[in-house]
Amino acid sequence: MSTTTPTTKPRILTGDTPTSTGLHLGHYVGSLENRLKLQSEYDCYFLIANVHAFTTLAEKPAEIRANTLGIIKDWLAVGLDPDRSTFVLQSEIPAIAELTFLFAMLIPFNKVMRNPTLKTEIDSKGLGDTYPFGFPMYAVGQCADILAFRPDLVPVGEDQEAHIEMCRDVALKFNQLYCGVGNRVLPEDHHKQGGVFPIPRAKIGRVGRLVGLDGKNKMSKSLNNAIFLYDSEKDVQKKVNKIVTGRTTATSPIAADNPLMQYIEVFLPEERANELKASYAEGKEVMDGHVKAEVGAAINALLAPMRERRAKIEAGPSAGDDLVREVIAKGVKKANAVAEETLYLAKKAMGLEFGKRVVG
Ligand code: TRP
Repeated sequence: MSTTTPTTKPRILTGDTPTSTGLHLGHYVGSLENRLKLQSEYDCYFLIANVHAFTTLAEKPAEIRANTLGIIKDWLAVGLDPDRSTFVLQSEIPAIAELTFLFAMLIPFNKVMRNPTLKTEIDSKGLGDTYPFGFPMYAVGQCADILAFRPDLVPVGEDQEAHIEMCRDVALKFNQLYCGVGNRVLPEDHHKQGGVFPIPRAKIGRVGRLVGLDGKNKMSKSLNNAIFLYDSEKDVQKKVNKIVTGRTTATSPIAADNPLMQYIEVFLPEERANELKASYAEGKEVMDGHVKAEVGAAINALLAPMRERRAKIEAGPSAGDDLVREVIAKGVKKANAVAEETLYLAKKAMGLEFGKRVVG
């Protein structure tokens, strides 16, 4: 098998888990916006973690399937471009599953169980101790999702940082153990020094953590505090109107961590955001209703072109599902070419290479 890469552009891999019917504003400012910006300079791989979705939705396979199609429609609506980037359906990439098993030997069990991202998820989803073995295992799987594509960068929200750190640890250890890379070699030099894996870096979005409408948690579908990219104009405004500001009069201050305050900063032009912040701080008269209308309109202006594209997609055969299946088929082919090459290189480094395999 050739080890030449199809393009010389640096690579990106990132992904979404289809645990909801669609993506929300937290995904947008945390990662999608970065993906759009980086799409032309990087060789991009966007992964739908549909196997990981079974860690919490094993009893609802139909839901996972529908969510998978919905999220890919969102990607297309946002402007991710399957002609330039590769869309990766996790369940169709066998090398990811195989690498997961191999990487599981390189991560101490206790380290997985102490992963703060997993812990937060267990708390916020109320999983208690009822989660399956596969739930903590998905953190190892995420290392394989990433490393299968040997990317340089992983654009994610702040909540994913612990996973990227674990992925870096696995890659470092792999290169040291099996590729003869010295312990003192800097992460950025690992690949040059013969490591199979470049050590990927996280790239956190403009807003690392977007607070949900409840003002308590990060925006998340399971917490029912999200504005979705496909919400109607009316629903967006309704949701914004329901934000509790805790102000009693038009001159009351507003807490710095109130969601309305964060949305002002994130979605209004900088100048206007500063003006409003100053007015609140100086105790000038500011009407919640007016500000909510302004924030709602700004969010709607951002979402309008996405809504339009999504409507066009859904006007296609079988409500756009046919198009999505085409996009998946094309992506799977490209993704498997890269991931199979990675697996081959990894197995060779581990002394597991016994000729090119033919299964069946
Ligand atoms: N766990 C990520 C999330 O819930 C999704 C994901 C799966 C991912 N595999 C990935 C993100 C690989 C980045 C890289 O948002």
